[in-house]
Amino acid sequence: MASGQKIPVRMTAIAISEPGGPRVLKPETRDVPLPGPGEILIKVHAAGVNRPDVQQRKGAYPPPPGASDLPGLEVSGEVAALGDEISRWRLGDRVCALTPGGGYAEYVKVHTGSVLPLPAGFTHTEAAAVPENYFTVWHNMFERGGLKKGETLLVHGGSSGIGTTAIQLASAFGAYVITTAGSKDKCDACLKLGADRAINYREEDFVKAVKDATEGKGANVILDMVGGDYVQRNYEAAAVEGRIVQIAVQAGAVASADFSKIMVKRLTHTGSTLRPRTVEFKAAIAAALEAQVWPLLGTRKVAPVMDMIYPLTDAWRAHERMEEGEHIGKIVLDVG
Ligand SMILES: NC(=O)c1ccc[n+]([C@@H]2O[C@H](COP(=O)([O-])OP(=O)(O)OC[C@H]3O[C@@H](n4cnc5c(N)ncnc54)[C@H](OP(=O)(O)O)[C@@H]3O)[C@@H](O)[C@H]2O)c1
Repeated sequence: MASGQKIPVRMTAIAISEPGGPRVLKPETRDVPLPGPGEILIKVHAAGVNRPDVQQRKGAYPPPPGASDLPGLEVSGEVAALGDEISRWRLGDRVCALTPGGGYAEYVKVHTGSVLPLPAGFTHTEAAAVPENYFTVWHNMFERGGLKKGETLLVHGGSSGIGTTAIQLASAFGAYVITTAGSKDKCDACLKLGADRAINYREEDFVKAVKDATEGKGANVILDMVGGDYVQRNYEAAAVEGRIVQIAVQAGAVASADFSKIMVKRLTHTGSTLRPRTVEFKAAIAAALEAQVWPLLGTRKVAPVMDMIYPLTDAWRAHERMEEGEHIGKIVLDVG
């Protein structure tokens, strides 16, 4: 292992002391992890907060085998040590990374394929808000959903970290973007980000609104994090040959639906979770993002929407804010 600066043996991390509410997130002293072959150690400056962290804290989303038990799926910081077989990165490089866990800490080890340079001109807090949402949206909206220029996207939860990313990327790549959100302020924020139509789902039926906005054709791709009764309604809002991509089931994993719609409209209903995928799979997404999205981040054609920043030791407040549901965009932890 190669390291430039003196790396401490112990570090502060935020652990889940037991499954439960935000207050179970407690600072602990842990060993600094040692990077193995193909891994680097990052001195973390900022860590992104994501809804799956909340699920993990509640005990509903256990880390995959071999991953850290600490929460935190994305970070930015500096390369502090190199494991064997690392050619791309140098000590001191400013990077951001997708992590399989362990991001709420002063140091985290990450596979080299999940690491990207800081986008040009980005602060660490901004860069920490990028990986989880951009990897997820890139794969599900473009690779799995096959969204193309000129097609219509419907993305639910438009003001979420995922939603704000999907709106900007779909719009930057030439799609017509329809989104749903739960208040006027959230809808306004989505329109500012480039959505062509924002539907307040508490006041309007999104199926009718999508049909009205598309001359009755429906959406070619639907990115859904809701599930439950949205399954049937997505089938109704989808265009012929539409692709529905499930990335979460916040309103319920069990639904009853009229499957004849799948046959009649020749729909595809698919989905995925990012965290347990292989390092090779994540490296392929990282390469695509660096080639096609990093230039857009560098010119700020797309950028993470920053909601609030909290110190690492106040991670519980960050979770409280996320669960209150008032946030628009990303909540980030400042690790120092
Ligand atoms: N599959 C994957 O690989 C993957 C990866 C990352 C994240 N995710 C999932 O993607 C979702 C968004 O993550 P995030 O970190 O961006 O979270 P977030 O910012 O907390 O957003 C959650 C969003 O869900 C919406 N929502 C919740 N319940 C709803 C309901 N019953 N009806 C309509 N909308 C509802 C909320 O919209 P309103 O406030 O407008 O109601 C909110 O915008 C989470 O469910 C997360 O688990 C999946």
